Amino acid sequence: MKIFLDTADLAEIRRASDAGLIDGVTTNPSLLAKAGNDRAPAELFREICETVDGPVSAEVVAVDSDGMIAEGRKLAAIHEHIVVKLPLTEAGLVACRTLTAEEIQTNVTLCFSTAQALLAAKAGATWVSPFVGRLDDIGHDGLEIVAEIRQVYDNYGFETEILAASLRHPRHVQEAMLVGADVATLPPSVLYPLLHHPLTDRGLDQFLKDWKAAGHAL
Ligand code: E4P
Repeated sequence: MKIFLDTADLAEIRRASDAGLIDGVTTNPSLLAKAGNDRAPAELFREICETVDGPVSAEVVAVDSDGMIAEGRKLAAIHEHIVVKLPLTEAGLVACRTLTAEEIQTNVTLCFSTAQALLAAKAGATWVSPFVGRLDDIGHDGLEIVAEIRQVYDNYGFETEILAASLRHPRHVQEAMLVGADVATLPPSVLYPLLHHPLTDRGLDQFLKDWKAAGHAL
């Protein structure tokens, strides 16, 4: 399973990319606002693309299909890593078909049901992003939707990849792996805790103590 970083914060992207922990980046307009960057969005996207060796999702903000297509073309022209992120609306799916026909990669976002994911795949989406945490927030089981999408895509041989999004804690990530998501996108606050286990810390402490006590040197 690939891991994408869900942020527009360049310093975080640099850190995770330098550590070899991520395969790509996802952003959305809220994440851009949160990053509080004074660069123009196109400039920021270019810098992100130059920092990470993989797909970088950049979202359209038009709500009609012609506007989305025009924005999608502009975004795709910024860098070859750009993936155009489109909302799962009728207009978004129309734009998805057109951009796919132009060989522009797409990520259909704000997916909250298996039926929506089927429609995104039929529109030729490269990725579909089911929002796990936001479904959990309203009392649904977000990961169950991811598992259902996996089954439907396998049943019908769709090549659209499942990008599990809105993951709020390491358990979400673990379950996304188990149900067969192709990618998990996570904020830094979920990525780094994946590295930690108390037994790793305890084991390392003990090794270092024993090494010191034995008086060895390398
Ligand atoms: C994914 O592409 C979205 O940007 C993101 O995962 C949304 O997460 P949130 O529900 O925590 O805002």
